[in-house]
Amino acid sequence: MIKIKYENTEKMYEEINNLIEDNDFDIIVISTPKEMKEVFNDKFLKTNKNIVISSRMPKKNDEDYVYVEFIKQDVYAIAVDGPSGSGKSTVCKIISKILNINYLDTGSMYRSLAYYCLKENIDINDEFKVFDELNKLNITFESSKIKVNGEFLGDKIRTNDVSMAASVVSKYLSIREKLVDMQREISHDKPTILDGRDVGTNVLPDAKYKFYLDASAEVRAKRRFDEKKDDSSYEKILEDVITRDRQDKTRKYAPLKKASDAILINSDDMSIDDVVEKIIEVVREK
Ligand code: DC
Repeated sequence: MIKIKYENTEKMYEEINNLIEDNDFDIIVISTPKEMKEVFNDKFLKTNKNIVISSRMPKKNDEDYVYVEFIKQDVYAIAVDGPSGSGKSTVCKIISKILNINYLDTGSMYRSLAYYCLKENIDINDEFKVFDELNKLNITFESSKIKVNGEFLGDKIRTNDVSMAASVVSKYLSIREKLVDMQREISHDKPTILDGRDVGTNVLPDAKYKFYLDASAEVRAKRRFDEKKDDSSYEKILEDVITRDRQDKTRKYAPLKKASDAILINSDDMSIDDVVEKIIEVVREK
């Protein structure tokens, strides 16, 4: 924390502006005597960083000083890849809360596209038509929940039909390029945990932490069956899990595979809490 003796406002602005120029930071917190706060705005150098002006002085009876604090946010990514039903999204949601970081479910983007294709009767085997549909979608996230053209899609994108269609539309290069660009953009300026198939290998190959969650097809199908979003039988879900694994692993562009530097976690005999604990342990130690 830098302490500046307050003599007059002009001198103070000059000193703070010099500090803004000389420091590398994400947030600057300026603690001012109460009566100065109103006249502060617009006097600082234009910066795209966050300027927080606080009238709460760090010490009582210290009204003759201005305190300046530079905060650097540690921007890092945690990539969690793995096949369908390996527990990625549940684990990532919990970890994002524990570490207070952003969560990005990359699969929800492919699912939303698949959902709209099915809804609009688009032939999912025609890459051009699917890409055209993608261009009609305005994809945003609010509190880590996907919103498409202003609507939260919720469980509508979690049905078995949408899962199967998502696996098809995600094999197209044009689709992947556009969605991967969005994923990089969303995670580039804040710490984020992302789950998907190609996060550690393709979206963010330089991610600081990489994990690959796996489990047997039977265990994963049972988990999907238990959280059923439609009336599919266990046998049908198992068959589809196996088909989807094959499609995701053998497709030409960015197939599902463990990054060579990812930590493998097989969750067959692990609870959600066990997996969360294991990942947090690695992140806190590095
Ligand atoms: O993780 P999920 O089950 O929600 O993903 C749905 C489909 O989207 C999956 O079959 C493959 C595809 N997908 C992908 O190709 N790349 C990602 N990063 C995430 C999902």
